[in-house]
Order: sequence, then C-alpha cells, then structure tokens
Amino acid sequence: MTTEELLARHRAVLPNWINPLYAEPIELVSGTGCRVTDADGRTYLDFFGGVLTTMIGYDIPEISDAVRRQLDRGIAHSSTLYLIRKQVELAEKIAKVSGIPNPKVFLANSGTEANDTALLLATQFRRSNQILAMRNSYHGRSFAALGVTGQRSWSATSLSPVNVSYLHSGDRLRGVFAGLPDAEYIRRAVADLREVLATTTAGDVACLIAEPIQGVGGFVAPPDGYFAAVKEVLDEYGILWVSDEVQTGWGRTGEHFWGYQAHDAVPDMLTFAKGVGNGFALGGVVARAEVMDCLGAISFNTFGGNPVSASAGSAVLDYVLDHDLQANAARLGDLLHAGLRGLHSPIVAEVRGKGLMLALEFVRPGTLDPAPELALRVLEETKANGLLVGKGGLYGNVIRMGPPLTLSEAEAKEGLDILAGAIAAAQRQA
Ligand SMILES: Cc1ncc(COP(=O)(O)O)c(C=O)c1O
Repeated sequence: MTTEELLARHRAVLPNWINPLYAEPIELVSGTGCRVTDADGRTYLDFFGGVLTTMIGYDIPEISDAVRRQLDRGIAHSSTLYLIRKQVELAEKIAKVSGIPNPKVFLANSGTEANDTALLLATQFRRSNQILAMRNSYHGRSFAALGVTGQRSWSATSLSPVNVSYLHSGDRLRGVFAGLPDAEYIRRAVADLREVLATTTAGDVACLIAEPIQGVGGFVAPPDGYFAAVKEVLDEYGILWVSDEVQTGWGRTGEHFWGYQAHDAVPDMLTFAKGVGNGFALGGVVARAEVMDCLGAISFNTFGGNPVSASAGSAVLDYVLDHDLQANAARLGDLLHAGLRGLHSPIVAEVRGKGLMLALEFVRPGTLDPAPELALRVLEETKANGLLVGKGGLYGNVIRMGPPLTLSEAEAKEGLDILAGAIAAAQRQA
C-alpha cells in the first residue's frame, strides 16, 4: 500500500478535523535516537518529537526494556481497583521532583485528562466554577479543557462546564502590551488582572490555569517573575494557580525542571503529560494533598497509571535525571537560539522559547503582518531537506521545535543548517 493510498483511507474513515501535516503527509515507520524513517525510506532528523512527546528519542533500550519486563509478567492492565506497584513508584518519583508542598499525584492518560482533573479539583475545592485562563492558551480537547482554550481555531464549541475570564497572554509583539519592557508588562498585566477580577467575576474564582510558555500558542511567554506577581493577587482572594507543564516540564526549558520555576513562585497544582511517557499514554496532576483529596465522591481511572505506561514513565524520569538532560537542553538550547537569532532574517519577527523549546514567528518583510504561507514554506522546505519541525501560533505563522532532550551537538548544528536554508528559501518567496 502506498502512502497516498493510506492517506485516502485515513481521510475516508477518520474525522476531517484530524489533519496530518504537509502537502504530502508521511507515515513514520521506524526511529532511532533523534531520527525517524518514513514509509518511503526517507530519514529525517526529528525536531518535533510528535509534539514534544518523544522526549528522550526513539528506540531507547532503557525504556523498551522496562516496558518489556512488565509485558513479560503478563499484566498489561489491572485497573486502579488493585494496587499497582509501578504506579506508586512513579507517583513517588514525580511527587519528589514536583516542588509542590505536601504533594499527591493522580495519574491519567493525557494532558487533556490532567487539566480536566485539575479544573475539577479547583472548582470543587473552591466551590466555584469561575476560572481565569490566558488568551492564546491551549489545554486539551475535553469540554472543560476546551472551555479554557484561548484560540479561536482550536475552540470547537462554546459549551463549557466552567465560566472563564481571560487574561492577556505574554504577547508583546502585537496587541495592547506590544513593545513593553518586562517590568512594565508585569505591572500592567497585574493591574489588568485586578480589573478582570473586579469587573468580570463574582470574586470567588476557583483557579488560574496557565502554561508558563504557551505551546500550541507558538511559545509565547510572559517575562520571568510574572506568575509571582500574579500569585500575590491570587493569594489575596484564595484563588489557586494551576501550572500546565504539559510542554514545559521535565527540564525541557534548560534553566529549570518546570516552567513555573522561572517565576520564583510555587503553584498549587501542576499538570503534566506528553514527554514523561516518551510515547506511552501518560499524564497527570500533582496537587497539594488538601486540594487533591477534596473530592467527595469515588473516582476511578481504568487506564490511568497502568503498569505499562507507569513502567515507561518511571524509566523515562530516571533517564532524564541520570543523564542530566536538563543540562543538555540548556547547552544545546543556547546553541540553537544563538544560531537562529544570528540569521537576522527580515521574515522572522521573533525567535522565542527557552532551552529545547524554540519558535520562529514569520511575518511579511518590514511589517508585523503574520505570514502563515512563509511558515508553511519553511515546514515543507525543512521536510524536503530531512528535518521535521512543527507549526503553531494564533495566526498559524509560527514554526515550533521541541527536539528530544538527548539531541547531540552535531544534530543541533545539522538542524540549524537545514533551517537556515529553509528560511532563506522562504525569504526569496516573500
Ligand atoms: C500545554 C498543553 N496542555 C494540554 C495539552 C493536551 O494534551 P493531550 O493532547 O495529551 O490531551 C496539550 C497538547 O498539545 C498542551 O500542549
């Protein structure tokens, strides 16, 4: 069966709203380290990792062995009706690195489920369905997670169990906070928060949910220290802070293990998913015990923290810590950020991100007009030259990258060369 035939079958049987990338979509059939091979035998350096999820690369023996050991026992599933040793071990490890005081951990299967749970906990703990979220956010695809989404193109319905007030995003390229220096941005954003609380809520808000660096939103982030200033206001009202670390966790930002740590404040809850499973379905919430234990009903999760995913997650976390991948993310992130900044292209309005979260925002030369067609050109051009990257941003004009944290210096330089060539090609088209 050819790739075109597979695409035709995909389109016939799967929903229209699941769209593979590229004019000619590809099927990845094998991988090793930071490289993948498609069904037509072409190999790519992977700077996206299935949306920052293959966090330590492909075909890692430590992970495969841990999963195989569990499968060899014959128990792929037992449910949370029974004790799951691997689940307890993983929860203990995550609690220890979370930085949340008196932590308890709930294991689920995805980022959506993690955020849905955090919203459930916050609304029950505070007995309020009022939520603060950020414009340009993305937190998942359940009703509650969609209800706190701040992007029209991802907002499939207005039906929602929560009542949301939106704060401004960290965007200082455009909009009302355009061009503001860090301190002034924080001052005005906090003043806006006070106004939002006073004018659009009944006061007893449950929580603020926010990504430290907005993933789908194109790696837009407020300045370091923003969430500490915001938390001071939240504390006045008893409002909880949920940090969505689905993309920013596990050392990816290089400078810290969690995105929230750039702000010198500690959230009440953090949510995680993607990278910790390195491809196995795993997500969850860390919350202060009094918040986690506030539910007045039994709750049950058939697959959450199942022995296979939990074995994978435990092995991934050990690998990240044993190999100090956070330090690698810092070192190679610096190299890549400097390389991309050094390109000085008139079609790149901003190079954003931290560590191994890198984004390029494309505009028409000499303007701030979003240029999604140039981002698309870079996407296709990088693919043609053997590099996989992602796309995002409010206007679809951002190239996003989240290479595996195991990236080598040679691979970083190889990717940089391909990106430079692709940007030059797009620049000729502009
Ligand atoms: C920050 C963030 N939160 C939550 C989610 C939802 O995670 P999932 O797709 O695993 O449900 C995503 C997915 O991209 C995300 O980027």
